Amino acid sequence: MSMVDSSGFILLLLLTMSFLVRGIAGSGGGVGGGRGQSPHSHPPKQRSSALFNVKSFGARADGRTDDTKAFRAAWREACRSEGTVYLLIPRGTYLIGPIEFSGPCKNVSSLIVRMKGYLKATTDLSKYGHSAGWVEFGWVNGLVLTGGGTFDGQGVKAWPFNTCFTNSSCKLLPTNLKFVAMNTTVVRGIKSRNSKFFHVALVDCKNFKGSEISISAPANSPNTDGIHIERSSAVYFSRSLIGTGDDCISVGQGNSEVTITSITCGPGHGISVGSLGRYPNEGDVSGLVVRDCTMTGTMNGIRIKTWPNSPGRSTATNMTFENIVMNNVTNPIIIDQTYCPFASCASLAPSRVKLSDIYFKNIRGTSSSAVAVTLECSKGIPCQNICLEDVHLDLSSGERDATSSCKNVRAKYIGTQIPPPCT
Ligand SMILES: *[C@@H]1O[C@H](CO)[C@@H](O)[C@H](O)[C@H]1NC(C)=O
Ligand SMILES: *[C@@H]1O[C@H](CO)[C@@H](O)[C@H](O)[C@H]1NC(C)=O
Ligand SMILES: *[C@@H]1O[C@H](CO)[C@@H](O)[C@H](O)[C@H]1NC(C)=O
Ligand SMILES: *[C@@H]1O[C@H](CO)[C@@H](O)[C@H](O)[C@H]1NC(C)=O
Ligand SMILES: *[C@@H]1O[C@H](CO)[C@@H](O)[C@H](O)[C@H]1NC(C)=O
Repeated sequence: MSMVDSSGFILLLLLTMSFLVRGIAGSGGGVGGGRGQSPHSHPPKQRSSALFNVKSFGARADGRTDDTKAFRAAWREACRSEGTVYLLIPRGTYLIGPIEFSGPCKNVSSLIVRMKGYLKATTDLSKYGHSAGWVEFGWVNGLVLTGGGTFDGQGVKAWPFNTCFTNSSCKLLPTNLKFVAMNTTVVRGIKSRNSKFFHVALVDCKNFKGSEISISAPANSPNTDGIHIERSSAVYFSRSLIGTGDDCISVGQGNSEVTITSITCGPGHGISVGSLGRYPNEGDVSGLVVRDCTMTGTMNGIRIKTWPNSPGRSTATNMTFENIVMNNVTNPIIIDQTYCPFASCASLAPSRVKLSDIYFKNIRGTSSSAVAVTLECSKGIPCQNICLEDVHLDLSSGERDATSSCKNVRAKYIGTQIPPPCT
């Protein structure tokens, strides 16, 4: 919390300084006069600053009027501006439909979104059209999203329309907060509630830092993954609280150098790699580190899941899971290469995702099911170099000892091993 306060203070300082500098420049001959800004589109005071307040663009913040247009207009001007630019969303409740904050913002070096508001998503699903996101940021360099505000997906009314558990070609509901093709992004101190689908998703992002993010949805809400990462690199998530109906964090295909630390997860399905190997042309996964996390009452702790009958080959390698506390977790450690949630799934051929160089170190706590460690690898491509070091998992009930289950793997074991290794 003190981190938020001090950085907020520094931001305020920067904001004040930018005002002063702009003010001086403005009086010296109209520099920074907001190119492309018509004097009719918003009050003149906006013209000499790089500060764009959604309220100056007509946002009502009454929680009933659709404020999407005002947000769009404010973004358009911010993105057209230059240098360090601020988009302000003051306190208040805003009703917002699907919205794309798209770049490129050619002359903007950093776009700082100070989100203090409570954004409520439109519940009318027909409004979302083809977009797979509710609030989507795309093709921007140097975005900073902060401010303590909330993205409320109002998912309760949408969840009954999610048919993805029985229909493999289901229509996806909107993700609360989507980041597409972003370079150098910081997301700090925001909240996401009751998303209709995933809460936060990254696709094709580079150099992304997320921290102090709070995500919540009921344990029984469908596909409400906390954070999903795909085709991204140099991604870092830390110090966040995630409780939801699906994976707290899922690391999908095509990712490299992803670091996840100090995440408190539960309820939910834990931290997952996958699912991998369902579609053709999937990218490889490498360089994942998950450290210092706590799972409480989740279905899984650490799970790696790949589909059988993969249309193409891919690999997932160099992954370390370290210092993880499991509190009453159903499957604390699980590799499942026959993942298939559909009854219709005929698991004809084994998975063609090759898993290798996977380290589980210092994993402690309790399992609510008898089998605390499951390593079920592909019959076609057995796992290579799976290493467990200092694992201590007791049954939550305290009744008997937990057990391990293995298929198509010869794991390496170092230090404490409770449950005992597969023989
Ligand atoms: C960026 O700034 C340059 C120089 O001031 C200007 O010529 C150009 O039109 C600006 N581009 C955009 C997209 O605003
Ligand atoms: C992000 O960086 C890559 C090169 O690393 C570049 O090709 C791409 O255009 C950049 N994206 C944006 C939105 O500028
Ligand atoms: C699956 O979902 C798609 C997209 O909404 C729909 O067109 C199709 O009819 C559904 N199939 C079944 C078997 O419900
Ligand atoms: C494994 O991943 C870590 C973390 O991303 C990275 O620092 C390291 O260089 C990788 N090792 C190899 C052999 O690629
Ligand atoms: C452990 O989790 C199970 C469900 O997975 C639940 O029934 C049980 O009450 C939990 N035990 C504790 C001690 O929280």
